[in-house]
Amino acid sequence: MFNFTAIAAIDNQRGLAKEGKIPWFLTKDMKFFRNTTSLLTDQAAALAGKKNVVFMGRKTWDTIPLKFRPLPDRLNVVISSQDAQFDGATTVVPPTAGPSSMDMTACGQVLSICADLPFVDKVFCIGGARLYTEAVQHPACEELILTRIDHNFDCDLFFPEYEHSFKLVQVLQEEQQGHCFRMERWRR
Ligand SMILES: NC(=O)c1ccc[n+]([C@@H]2O[C@H](COP(=O)([O-])OP(=O)(O)OC[C@H]3O[C@@H](n4cnc5c(N)ncnc54)[C@H](OP(=O)(O)O)[C@@H]3O)[C@@H](O)[C@H]2O)c1
Repeated sequence: MFNFTAIAAIDNQRGLAKEGKIPWFLTKDMKFFRNTTSLLTDQAAALAGKKNVVFMGRKTWDTIPLKFRPLPDRLNVVISSQDAQFDGATTVVPPTAGPSSMDMTACGQVLSICADLPFVDKVFCIGGARLYTEAVQHPACEELILTRIDHNFDCDLFFPEYEHSFKLVQVLQEEQQGHCFRMERWRR
């Protein structure tokens, strides 16, 4: 079974979004997100035609502009209770009755689909709040990659508490673009 990484950008209150939108526009972070989620483990993975998986809640999918979705070069997986088609993405419908085990959660369902696909390299949870909340509680979520922005954007949607279950192991990048922000790797 795969482990996975949750990747998010948060403000200094753990804010993720305000009124359904991300209230900052940081091109360096967008590039970082694209590179991190697209980069394969090694050249062997590339030669074998492998791809990374990005999975997300239906509301996060809806916020990606049409011309940018599906996110290129990655298998896009959308979690929804509606058995709907999302153009260029695979839909996962978690069981409606409350999950009885970690395997039955939305994250668990994605991982079991990945286990059946021969071409998957790395797996990323890319939001939103509902999925992150599930992800930080899932034992297979071994890593968080967080862009932490040093500003309070007065958000109304938040990343869950993670500081007690994960520890900071690496600062990957430090940037300034209007605000200071840094990309960090946290491990369980
Ligand atoms: N700052 C960041 O890094 C970042 C990253 C990603 C997203 N965001 C923001 O986060 C916001 C969206 O987050 P959100 O929490 O409102 O929504 P979300 O997690 O993106 O999506 C929630 C939807 O996903 C489906 N879903 C999720 N878990 C499910 C489960 N266990 N069982 C069945 N369905 C499930 C449901 O879709 P149906 O209603 O179709 O059943 C649910 O309504 C957006 O504003 C976005 O901009 C921020």
